[in-house]
Formats: sequence, structure tokens, C-alpha cells
Amino acid sequence: MDKELKQIQDLIIGASIQAQKDRHGAISPAFVGRVDWPAECTVGPGLEGAIACETEIGYVNGTQGALYYRGYRIYDLCAYANYEQVAYLLLKGKLPTPKQLTNFSRKLTENLFMPKVIRSLIGFDVEKMSPMASLNLATTVMKQYFDDSIMDQKKAQKNNSDDFIGTDEDSMGMETLPFGEQKAVYEFDAKKKKRKVDEDKEKETFSACCHLISGLATCAAAISRIRQGLMPLDPDKNLSFAANYLYMMTGKRPTAVEEKIMDVSLILHADHGMNASTFASIVVASTLSDLYASIGAGISALKGPLHGGANEQVLNMLDGIESPEAVAEWYKNATRKKEKIMGFGHRVYKTYDPRAKILGPLAHFMTDYAGPDAKKTLQIAKNLENEVVSTLGKSKGIYPNVDFYSGIVYKALGIPSEMFTPTFAVARCSGWTARVVEYLATNRIFRPRAIYTGDLDREYIPIEERRKQQ
Ligand code: ACO
Repeated sequence: MDKELKQIQDLIIGASIQAQKDRHGAISPAFVGRVDWPAECTVGPGLEGAIACETEIGYVNGTQGALYYRGYRIYDLCAYANYEQVAYLLLKGKLPTPKQLTNFSRKLTENLFMPKVIRSLIGFDVEKMSPMASLNLATTVMKQYFDDSIMDQKKAQKNNSDDFIGTDEDSMGMETLPFGEQKAVYEFDAKKKKRKVDEDKEKETFSACCHLISGLATCAAAISRIRQGLMPLDPDKNLSFAANYLYMMTGKRPTAVEEKIMDVSLILHADHGMNASTFASIVVASTLSDLYASIGAGISALKGPLHGGANEQVLNMLDGIESPEAVAEWYKNATRKKEKIMGFGHRVYKTYDPRAKILGPLAHFMTDYAGPDAKKTLQIAKNLENEVVSTLGKSKGIYPNVDFYSGIVYKALGIPSEMFTPTFAVARCSGWTARVVEYLATNRIFRPRAIYTGDLDREYIPIEERRKQQ
């Protein structure tokens, strides 16, 4: 193995060993394994603590700072696998054999070619839209072409494209019993049998997942180039998914180091429990809307600065700090104004986000190649991390999250800052699609409740009388 690739692998293994030490003992699971329904839990605002569904796809332990995909530790996947293997794992539930990996990688590469979609996108003034809005639009365009290709394959056989996922709404009673003010009783029937598998539909759904995973990469790269007045590039069929993404975006074939770092970054962002964008995707899917619309919902949710949009904001914030020496003063001011520091804090992690534990050293590794500006940004980031962790770490459990170092890494890879969040979306697409498909196997439409705090039985005043009140 190339010396530098070995160094990267060693950095990840080192982060893994450190994480084990920091963990102080075994993972203490919460909500792991089968539960007896109805399950009881405390629900807070923002559905904090609420259970949306059962899943076998991924597990986040926020107290211990641990992340698993299908039971595999994130550190091992980053050190030894690539994004194609991880996407297969998320979708299919097991790591691929060499033959399965070859076939799957070929399928993803074939799907990277989408000239018709790109031509349509160019017609939409994407240079004037936000990149995430353009990416959302791309999912709608892709849906049309996917349906067309299915229609072609079926030789004009009538195809109801809107229900190709093949589930229908569960007929169980909707209302849940109130169980004290803050408690909810969940009435999922865990033993409920999964619906009968229709192999053709399953294949079609899997094809749609691959189409979306690759399509988002091609469209994000094209959107970036169109915005810069450049022509979109076709993928290179000899490159990996990670290398192709960088190539289609920057026009340069990446080095082995750049490819590996992109790959690790894609893996780290591929899935993360029931986060806002994943939840948004499955909420839309639960109405039996289509897979493309569901992923579009995920993209819309990810756009926000409290979620995936934070990575771009982090770099803007770091660029706004004059020097490493100015960090302490800057932080004092921000704290006085009660500003949230971008790239810190997490709804689930009350300790170091394991993804930041990997991206931090990788950012350091990359900046050794990227020149003095990058080094300065990294030093500012490290000083800020020290300030935040020493003040808010113990008191509020606020530590760097995945977005804190990802922007520095992306910048060093040549990705423009406005494309950081779309790059996150490209990676997350495998998790979104896997979770939507899993959820739909035992679908039940989402319908939480709200606590009504308004008036009741107000007297209706006719409009003429209201005029008099003005
Ligand atoms: N900087 C300073 N203080 C913070 C931060 C932060 N980044 N995050 C949380 N806090 C404080 C809050 O002010 C609050 O303090 P208080 O109890 O004294 O009022 C307390 O910690 C709890 O904060 P909430 O916002 O209620 O925590 P929540 O779990 O709802 O939010 C979130 C999590 C949205 C990630 C939050 O930490 C935040 O806004 N971080 C900055 C944005 C960011 O980096 N987002 C990316 C998250 S990772 C991802 O989505 C991929």
C-alpha cells in the first residue's frame, strides 16, 4: 500500500483506539434489540426522545460517542472499506462479496452517466438558484427519466410509476393513548409480518436507489460547474465513486490520497440515525409518495444551518476570525452575544462526535499539502475547539460535530464552499434510500400530535362589526 494511504489508515485506526479508551468500558445500549410494544419513552420538544420506527441500518450511541452501520464500527469501515461497499452494506444489510462489489460498483458507475438529466438541468437557470435547491430540482428531473427508462424496459407495459415501492398504508388504529403529560405509548406491532416480497418491484426499487445515489453525485458536480460558467463533465468509467465525484466537480483526476480522503468523508456522512433529513425522507415516503420525492425532502431538510448547512457556515465563521491569536477574544464576544458556534453541539452526542474524531486528524493531514492559508484556518479551528470544549464541554456536553472539520477537508479537496452541503447530501443518499426502503416494508403513515395551546370556543364576530373595531 502507498505510504500516504497507510498513514491515513493509521490515523483512522489511531482515532479508533483513542475512542475505545475515551469510552471507559463497553457500550451501554439504549433502545437496542427488540422491545415489547407498546414501548414507553419520554418525549420532548422537537420529538426529542420519540421513537419513529425500528431499524437495522445504523445505531448512534450519543453518550459513548459510537456510530455503527449495520453493526460495523464506523472506524473499521473508514479504515478498510470504500463508499461503494458501505452503500451496498446500508442497502442490502451485508458487506458485498468481491463479485457483488464489482457488479454494484459497475451499476453505480453506469448511473453516473445522465446526460439527459444534465441537459434538462441546464435549462433551469441553476446558476441563479441555491445549489441545494438545484439538487432538489435534480431529483424531480431524475424521477421523470427513471420512469421513462422503466417504461422503455417494460416495452410500454402500463406502469404506475407512483407506487413502484409497493407498500400500502397500514390499517392499524391511528390514535395513541395519552400516558401522562410528556409520555407517549407507541403501538407499533413489532411482530407484524413484512409484506410479501415482489421481486420485480424490489429490483426496480434497488435500481432507483442506485440511480439516486449516483445521480446526486453527477448533478451536484454539474451544478457546481454550471454555477462557475463551466461545462459539466462526463464521469470517467475507470474511476471509483469518490474519485469520479471529485473529477466531475473539479475537472482534475484526484490523487490516491485525495480519493481516499473523499471516500472516508462519504462513508462518514452516509447515515446517522433518525436525524432531521432522514426523518423528513421517511415521513414523505410514509404517505406513499415516491422515492425521489422522499429524497428531495431529505435534501430540503439537510439544507438548514442547524443540520447539513452548518459545514458551509463553519468555514465562513473560521474565515471571519483574523488569526489563531484572535480566537479567544472572538469566542468571548460570541458567548456574550449568546451566539451558537457552528460545528459544535449535537442533539444526540453529548460527547465527541466520532466522525469529528476521524475528520479532525484528516483535516490536519490534508492541510500539510494545502499551503499556509489552510494551515492558518486549521490552527484557528483547533484554538476554537479548545475554547469551546474547555467551557461548554463538561457543562453542556458540547463538542465538535461532523461539520466542524468537514469544510476544511472539502476545501483542501478543491470543493467550493457552496457545494459542501450538496456534498453531504450526495453521501447521505445511501442512508436515506436504505432507510426509506426499510421503513416502507412495514409502512405506517406518520401522524404525531401537537399540544394545542390556543383558545377554544371563541365567539364569531361578523365582518361588519370587526370593521367597527379598527
Ligand atoms: N454553541 C453554543 N451553545 C450551544 C451550541 C453551540 N453550537 N449548541 C447548543 N448550545 C447550547 C444552547 O444554547 C443551549 O443552551 P441553554 O441550555 O443554556 O439554553 C444548550 O446548548 C442546548 O442547545 P439546543 O439548541 O437546545 O440543543 P439541540 O439538541 O436542540 O440542538 C444543534 C442541537 C441544533 C445541533 C445545536 O447544537 C446547534 O445549533 N449547533 C450548531 C449548528 C451545527 O453545528 N449543526 C450541525 C449539527 S450536526 C448535523 O446536523 C450533521
